[in-house]
Amino acid sequence: MYFVTPYLAVGRRADAEDAENLAAHGIKSILSLCALVRPDGIARQLSMDIKDRAALPAEFIGEAMGFLNAQIQAGRKVLVHCEMGISRSASIAVGYLHGFHGMPLEQALAKVREANPMADPHPLLLESMRNYFYRPAEAVDLSGNENPLGPSTLAVAAINGAVARLHRYPDKDASALRDKLAARLGVAVEQIILGNGSCELIDHLARACLSPGDEAIIPLPSFPVYRSATRAAGGTVVPVPMPEGAYCVEGILEKITPHTRLVMIGSPNNPTGTILGETELQQLVDGLPEQVWLLVDEAYRDYVDAAEIADAMAWVAKGKNVIVMRSFSKAYGLAGLRIGYGIAPAWIARAIDRLRQNYNTNSMAQLAAAAALDDAAHLARTRANNASELQRVQRRLSEMGASYIPSRANFVLVQAESDIAERLDRAGIKVKDMARFGAPEYFRVSIGLPEENTRFLDEFENILQESREISQPVFA
Ligand SMILES: Cc1ncc(COP(=O)(O)O)c(C=O)c1O
Repeated sequence: MYFVTPYLAVGRRADAEDAENLAAHGIKSILSLCALVRPDGIARQLSMDIKDRAALPAEFIGEAMGFLNAQIQAGRKVLVHCEMGISRSASIAVGYLHGFHGMPLEQALAKVREANPMADPHPLLLESMRNYFYRPAEAVDLSGNENPLGPSTLAVAAINGAVARLHRYPDKDASALRDKLAARLGVAVEQIILGNGSCELIDHLARACLSPGDEAIIPLPSFPVYRSATRAAGGTVVPVPMPEGAYCVEGILEKITPHTRLVMIGSPNNPTGTILGETELQQLVDGLPEQVWLLVDEAYRDYVDAAEIADAMAWVAKGKNVIVMRSFSKAYGLAGLRIGYGIAPAWIARAIDRLRQNYNTNSMAQLAAAAALDDAAHLARTRANNASELQRVQRRLSEMGASYIPSRANFVLVQAESDIAERLDRAGIKVKDMARFGAPEYFRVSIGLPEENTRFLDEFENILQESREISQPVFA
């Protein structure tokens, strides 16, 4: 018999039948993989008659592992043996080392072979061990552009401290949060509007601005809510292409008609990740007739350096019909609470705010948002993870020959066959199919934690490789 650990030996039937030998080695328990009468001096025995060179059933493995562990935990030395050789007992020892010592299966096998170089579990036996221990990796969700670091701990603490007051209605005007935002942004409180997510504000903006027959100019591809809000308000969507994902201000201005009332721009844009530069915004604002409102949706602004992105707030300050919208769902990690805000000239803010219900933002969301604004460290970590990982993801996409639009946000728009999102999903990686966004040949992948991004990249590379192999001509 051969000791794999001080408490676990593997051997043959002859070893188990030799009572003196067992006593000499201090063996107190036996796991028999064949029919065997209990030898003298053995306190406990588990006998299982299992055919040689056949896959081991999961129930058997479970019972064997449980027996081994219980005996060893009780301080008894155990022998695992079988009829013919040590092939089955070795595979059980491998399973034990893996299951209870956390050793990778290959390493466990090496350790068993080290105890006895003849130990050579049949591949079928090892396969049954692999199947028994296999746990599908947890799915990675890179479809929602959420914050992979989670919420700010200050926000969580603020909520925890207030749960006892859940029976009270929230402050319908969210005064504390609006005051805080106004002070930070250097605007009047009347210019701040709060929504149940910025989605609600986009909806109310469209309703405040558009009447049936009015037109909203919307670059494509873009966030689908711009179009759904326009249609819900009775407006007409006027799409403008974004060549190679970039904004074309001339293209937008060319679409203006006497019916135009609204232009909706995301900066960074979802899903292209492109931003509007200072000169482009100036050109756009200068070119818009007075009756047209301009939405600059900055849900992803926190991922971009302020020096690089157009300062849309400056146009609000100048009294132009510009509405800036921001969200706590992305860099602040509060997507589940639904809270976002907008900044606009006071008369526009009033027109939008009139459309909301009294308690549109809940008390937890108000508190968490106010606390998250103070969590500079969480924001810095979020930005740092995104900056380095965005660069790494894009670099590897380039290396594998994938086409994508260089992004400034926390996601990347990648060109691929239309079934790729589904294939990634089957491999446990959720990405966003882009058909609804107006880009059917693409998917969007959010930037996650480093290990999540690596899983996506490896899986995507495998799929690309497979597709390339399949598209090779079969006959030269
Ligand atoms: C461009 C853009 N604007 C607004 C939103 C909505 O954010 P919220 O969660 O605040 O409603 C999203 C969410 O994905 C978005 O991508």
